[in-house]
Amino acid sequence: MKILVSDNLAEAGVEKLQSIPDFEVEVNTSLTHEELRQVIKEYDALVIRSATKVTADIIEAAERLKVIARAGIGLDNVDIAAATKHGIVVMNTPEGNVITTAEHTIAMLLALSRNIPQATYSLKSGKWEKKRFRGKEVFNKTLGIIGIGRIGRVVADRAKGLKMNVIAYDPYIGSDYVNKLGVEAVTFDELLQRADYISVHTPITQETRNLLNAEAFARMKRGVFVINCARGGIVNEQDLYDAIQSGIVAGAALDVFTQEPPKDNPLLTLEKVIGTPHLGASTDEAQENVAVAVADQVIDYLLNGTIRNA
Ligand code: MLT
Repeated sequence: MKILVSDNLAEAGVEKLQSIPDFEVEVNTSLTHEELRQVIKEYDALVIRSATKVTADIIEAAERLKVIARAGIGLDNVDIAAATKHGIVVMNTPEGNVITTAEHTIAMLLALSRNIPQATYSLKSGKWEKKRFRGKEVFNKTLGIIGIGRIGRVVADRAKGLKMNVIAYDPYIGSDYVNKLGVEAVTFDELLQRADYISVHTPITQETRNLLNAEAFARMKRGVFVINCARGGIVNEQDLYDAIQSGIVAGAALDVFTQEPPKDNPLLTLEKVIGTPHLGASTDEAQENVAVAVADQVIDYLLNGTIRNA
């Protein structure tokens, strides 16, 4: 069987796939969309991260493809409906980068509170601006988590370690369960009104796109900090810009953008915005975890028909 790995996958995952005698594994991370469309007909499995866009035309050209496997969580780069229509299984690896992404969120939260990126830049340009970069303690502040799934839960746990009060809104998870995590389950409106920090941890769907928009910002506490290490577009970028300019939002930490890499994004002109280039899942540990998990899942499916995380 032929496997195409079209995005950078940690070596441990590639080696695992290569260890199967029946598999012919090709790693090619430089294919254009058109090239992928041309070659996809030869493959039984396609292993991706976020760079490859598996659109309907790719799926239509795939004559023997049985599985599209994403090393990572988000499946927004795969046309799942088209794959399903063609009987192709789409799987992800939802566990391997959870801790890493939660840790990135906490790093962003602290960096935002203490102006670390801005102060580093200032220091490196020869300045010593102690007054300008006075920050805020996170102790005893309220962190509002939107989406208390796998990542949100770990963020909550780490934030509690910092002695923050954690509240969460999640329409899909029962309040009893949330409360058992030591987190107070609240309504969306309550979260907006009470949080000193708001961090989103949902996928991007019709329901979550523009969830934090002008109307939501208007209900927030003045001086709130906003963190998005989930998906670009959950926080409306223009409305966030306006909310920062009007003083409702004191600062934002963004790892994700509606357009990646961002192009002429006005948010990136604001000193109160700190950012990283979608690094949430980028640690050695997480990349190895998801690569090994994706390889295991592809092997299990192609050799035994076992479907996991589809
Ligand atoms: C994920 O969905 O797994 C993360 O956002 C990381 C990524 O897209 O590479």
